[in-house]
Amino acid sequence: MVKRWIKVVKNKIKIAVLPGDGIGPEIIKQAVKVLKVFGLESNINYGLIGGKGYEEFQDPLPKTTLDLALQSDAVLLGAVGDWKYDKLPRDMRPERGLLRIRQSLNLFANLRPAIMFSELIHASSLKAEFVSDLDIMIIRELTGDIYFGEPRGIGVNNQNEREGINTMRYSEPEIIRIANVAFKTALKRSKKLCSVDKANVLETTELWREIVIQVGKDYPEVELSHMYVDNAAMQLVKEPKQFDVIVTGNIFGDILSDEASMLTGSIGMLPSASLDANNKGMYEPSHGSAPDIAGLDKANPLATILSLAMMFKYTFNDEEKFNLIENAVKKTLNDGFRTEDIFSKGTNLIGCEEMGDKVIERLMV
Ligand code: IPM
Ligand code: MG
Repeated sequence: MVKRWIKVVKNKIKIAVLPGDGIGPEIIKQAVKVLKVFGLESNINYGLIGGKGYEEFQDPLPKTTLDLALQSDAVLLGAVGDWKYDKLPRDMRPERGLLRIRQSLNLFANLRPAIMFSELIHASSLKAEFVSDLDIMIIRELTGDIYFGEPRGIGVNNQNEREGINTMRYSEPEIIRIANVAFKTALKRSKKLCSVDKANVLETTELWREIVIQVGKDYPEVELSHMYVDNAAMQLVKEPKQFDVIVTGNIFGDILSDEASMLTGSIGMLPSASLDANNKGMYEPSHGSAPDIAGLDKANPLATILSLAMMFKYTFNDEEKFNLIENAVKKTLNDGFRTEDIFSKGTNLIGCEEMGDKVIERLMV
């Protein structure tokens, strides 16, 4: 692993950093401090995305940013979106920039781990016994489904009434490739995979279930189960520890990963990796841009720092740096430092910038 890393560094890896909107810049700044510790400052190129891209280039994914991302080995993204852009035409809105970069880079596999850090057990909305040692990996398909399906839009129907249309769609190859990622991930963990669908109502997911079962024949060691999404939403809060790896489509994964994040205390702790077929990836916290607290030094940078850790693990094959960063985060929590979202009585409330510094201090020792 380490050898491969050295080789990659020699070849001058390129990391695109896209801070985005809202709290994006302040959380990204903390992750960049970590990159500096590893001497990777000069490997960073910055780009504009979301509202920032719109302001400068009238495009939430400016061409220069897309080109930069395409030429880089990995992308680190903060967050996009602000209420002030809600009135813009849909194609100009910050979220479109995010969806387009995911699609343009073919980042079809979104890994969202929900891990309970023991120090945060009291920040969870569930009783400790239900969430202690919780470690779930949600694998969300990221470039298909109702997010991208055509036809879509707002039009007028035969009765001359306005009508909104989106289309849930999955092709067989799209399901096969995400199922393979899920089974391979399950093989490296507890060998349990739960596929979430709504096959009792939606044909798209009826096909999903059929194909997942078919792909599963290549992985006889993995115990495959299926759950309807409504039941999965309930089971996640009823008995979350029954899950290990969950695989699901884009829209269900969006919803279930937000739900799972609260089990672990705060969405401010949930990192994510979005990978293509060659493990090139974009790394971003699962939370949004939180414009209400932007610039106030209140945001939790840990999901972003943990996303950077995932970059080392998945794109650069460097488990060592992944562990170093994760341990530094754990030590910081263990030493009682908390941002507002994970604060509880008896702990030490600090801001975003200081949280970054505390992690760095522990990374350097
Ligand atoms: C996420 C976000 C995005 C999504 C939004 C900002 C477009 O909620 O990454 O989960 O829906 O995928
Ligand atoms: Mg979401």
